[in-house]
Amino acid sequence: MIVYYNGQLMLKSNVCISPDDRGFLFGDGTYEVVRVYQGELFHFDGHLTRLARSLREIQIQLDGLAFLNEVSQLLIKKNKLQDSDATLYIQITRGIAPRHHRFPERIDPTVYVTATASKRPLKELKEGVSVHLAPDRRWGRCDIKSIALLANVLASQEAADQGAYETIFIRDEVLTEGTHTNFCMIFDGIVQTHPANCNILDGITREVVLNLCHDLKIPVQEIPIPADRIHDADEAFILGSTTEIMPVIRIDKKQIGSGEPGLITRKLQKAFNREIEK
Ligand SMILES: Cc1ncc(COP(=O)(O)O)c(C=O)c1O
Repeated sequence: MIVYYNGQLMLKSNVCISPDDRGFLFGDGTYEVVRVYQGELFHFDGHLTRLARSLREIQIQLDGLAFLNEVSQLLIKKNKLQDSDATLYIQITRGIAPRHHRFPERIDPTVYVTATASKRPLKELKEGVSVHLAPDRRWGRCDIKSIALLANVLASQEAADQGAYETIFIRDEVLTEGTHTNFCMIFDGIVQTHPANCNILDGITREVVLNLCHDLKIPVQEIPIPADRIHDADEAFILGSTTEIMPVIRIDKKQIGSGEPGLITRKLQKAFNREIEK
């Protein structure tokens, strides 16, 4: 597998990461996961804009991210993914320096990019999945796509242990988002989702879907949803670059709607598939 590491394309097995890299020592970095459909990057500009914002917020200086476009295209080609569905992973850390908490002076960020074949979760997209609820134990800047994901990892494992696909977090009695997805519920034909503030990551898929709702004249409310409203929900779904629009048919012991993917969710999935084919 060919990857990009600090200015070079090379075999993944030849990448040598320093133990002094601040990504390794502190989780001091940011990342993006971009979907590739049949060799084409999906909403890459949105990911670059968010990456630039994350870098700004954590004060990592890396001017001009446009080179990542070329790097991504090269990785798709070199790994023979032109006709495949794949996932592109970009990680940028503050760089290498002796271990001190404060920012070191004059270091170059570490940039690592991979492209890996990955199939769409078609069975789950059709049948829907169950999710699990758990307290949101993450930090107060969930709007930054930090590589420090321990709370997400633990909550994701909790879902797996319960036989669920994803964990949805509850903070201050409100449903925020999943460990790697945004969360929406539908009440009386209105799609509700948490506002894009510091308690969630403003997902690229979320943005695509809110635009689709606008086009399809499906009303949307970006408001905090109290956790006990799962009992009134007609439909629910989670959103993410690899998850797409995944119907949620059960939240812990509570069945959502008829226990099958709902009509509005299906309509949005169809529109999303058209967006992929564009
Ligand atoms: C916490 C969290 N929320 C939401 C998302 C969905 O974001 P996107 O649609 O940009 O993949 C992700 C993606 O990894 C995430 O980690």
